[in-house]
Amino acid sequence: MQHFSVIQSLCRLGLKAQDPAFRQQVERLHERLVKAGDTKDAETLARLLNAAATATAMQPTKVELSRFHITGEPLTPQVHPPVDRETSQALCRIMLKPSEMARHPVLSERSRKAVSDLIDEWKSFERLNALGVPPGRSLLIFGPPGSGKTLTAFHIADALGLPLIDARIDGLISSFLGTTARNIANLFAFANRYRCVLLLDEFDAIAKLRDDPQEVGEIKRVVNSLLQSLDARADIGITIAITNHHRLLDSAVWRRFDTQVQLGLPDEPARAEMLAQFLKPLAVNQAFVQLMTYVADGASGADLKRYANAIKRQIALRGEDDSPTHHFKALCEVLAREPSMRVHPRAQLMIDDIEAFVASAMHDAAFPVKQKPLASLIDVNQATVSRWLARADPSEARHAQ
Ligand SMILES: Nc1ncnc2c1ncn2[C@@H]1O[C@H](COP(=O)(O)OP(=O)(O)OP(=O)(O)O)[C@@H](O)[C@H]1O
Ligand SMILES: [Mg+2]
Repeated sequence: MQHFSVIQSLCRLGLKAQDPAFRQQVERLHERLVKAGDTKDAETLARLLNAAATATAMQPTKVELSRFHITGEPLTPQVHPPVDRETSQALCRIMLKPSEMARHPVLSERSRKAVSDLIDEWKSFERLNALGVPPGRSLLIFGPPGSGKTLTAFHIADALGLPLIDARIDGLISSFLGTTARNIANLFAFANRYRCVLLLDEFDAIAKLRDDPQEVGEIKRVVNSLLQSLDARADIGITIAITNHHRLLDSAVWRRFDTQVQLGLPDEPARAEMLAQFLKPLAVNQAFVQLMTYVADGASGADLKRYANAIKRQIALRGEDDSPTHHFKALCEVLAREPSMRVHPRAQLMIDDIEAFVASAMHDAAFPVKQKPLASLIDVNQATVSRWLARADPSEARHAQ
């Protein structure tokens, strides 16, 4: 397209204002370019649209932590993790640069605030210190599988500019009870020696231990030594614990954490934001993201990531062009492969009966896609969509006449 570089700059500047009307015009231009076969320019516009959609994700907020706030030796590539004496398995993983794993999590307003407050407390160390309170040092993250708990822990370590010591509680539990207590002690001694964030994943394993009817006395000692290790660490370093089963934890455990953050299944805006992020660099249009957001109601963040990757694989393997119709086809195939228990009711209807799905979605106030872009996604003409609607509800046909 002639003068496209100027148009591109105009679009980039305009999209920054997050005005939906402006965005819609850029999408129109994108669709025209796709239709005209101008794929290169269309892809550039799709990238701009995607980037603008995700600009509201949690922004990087790196904290320059003063060396005096968190004490300890720096972790270097030469430092090796402690090991289980029986099996020689490492008791933790050392992540010197959690940034490599730390994509910004998309969180609900409440969880985002709890996480950013913790980071801000460290930014405002001096002001808190003047009032005689330390920043939060312990955080418990809980929520269903795939809701971004581990990702959030990595994000926090990255934002604090600290390496991460990643340990799973079940990995510390040895069949030799004496060894379990020693593993816990060794892990904490190691973490306390270095400037780091200590991550205790699968934290509910400790509660399961407590319920084990065997060797009650010994197990109690192990659990108590873990709680004591947490207490001793409280003034030394930052600790994040993660669990899927928060109900298994008793009040003695909850009390050990300054802050608790609950993550859940993403709501509609969160799903849209994640999909715009995960589907990159596909040149998906807004109607496709809206449709996928709608049908994936009930999916976790990890599910959405999996679906997005599967769609990309389909497009790549079939050598199909990166067009809205092929995105839609790939989405249907990916969802159809999901075990039926996992597929969401709206998605199930879309796969089983596209006519019934269109009729139900077009009558649902929560479905934002208009008839025309929907028809072009499904690869039928608008008249066909109107016919489907009329068939589902004959009063529509009377209106149309
Ligand atoms: N809230 C989110 N924001 C962005 N991406 C997410 C989110 N939730 C899940 N994901 C995606 O799913 C992947 C898996 O998430 P993560 O491992 O953090 O989930 P989890 O809650 O720790 O799950 P599990 O309980 O199974 O350990 C992430 O790497 C990311 O790609
Ligand atoms: Mg996890």
